[in-house]
Amino acid sequence: MNFITVSNYDELSRKGANIIAAQVIQKPKSVLGLATGSSPVGIYRELIARYEAGDLDFSKVKSINLDEYLGLDGSNDQSYRYFMQKNLFDHINIDPANTYVPNGCAEDVAAECEAYDARIEDFGGIDLQLLGIGLDGHIGFNEPADIFEKGTHVVDLHESTIEANARFFASRDEVPTKAVTMGMGGIMQAKKVLLIANGAAKKEIVQKAFFGPITPLVPASILQLHSDLTVIYSEN
Ligand code: GLP
Repeated sequence: MNFITVSNYDELSRKGANIIAAQVIQKPKSVLGLATGSSPVGIYRELIARYEAGDLDFSKVKSINLDEYLGLDGSNDQSYRYFMQKNLFDHINIDPANTYVPNGCAEDVAAECEAYDARIEDFGGIDLQLLGIGLDGHIGFNEPADIFEKGTHVVDLHESTIEANARFFASRDEVPTKAVTMGMGGIMQAKKVLLIANGAAKKEIVQKAFFGPITPLVPASILQLHSDLTVIYSEN
């Protein structure tokens, strides 16, 4: 594991963007696993700036996102599809047909989950997976549980996750209680993993996840077993 401590969010965003930019430059047809939440916003801003400067070309890139709230469609401004459009896709030259986010409104959610895993396999796996981390150690929406769940699946969001994500909604009651998330199989099969964590509030969970025991009660701890993991942490 390459654990990098940086002094502020701007530095985290630049260093994170460097890693993604290097991936896209070295392999223009990269499959990028992308994440939502507040942490990656700065990285996306950096990538847009580099695209606008003519330094990055996303025309051959494919992207596959980690998760989506159940019941929200892409036109809902709280959906993760909407987030990705506004924070990245609408500003770069990625082909919209090559961007994948789970369909939170699929009639047959089980079939949607299976198709999502089949797509990842079809891609030959993800080249670089970007991750944030929840306060309870979740990655994607893989919440603490008795087991590490392998495939894409539906989860009941934990109280603490609903609380944490309520800041993005008009009221707590509007936060969906379920989500579709890529499982640990898709994440662990990524050739490279980049996890970013920002702020003093994440310090304890980052310690537990990367320097504590590997346990499904701290889902991100499984990443200690990944052979190409970079963690960038900024306390400020
Ligand atoms: C959500 C997302 C996660 C993300 C987490 C942390 O629950 N599903 O992918 O890592 O939030 O978000 P933030 O970066 O805003 O702390």
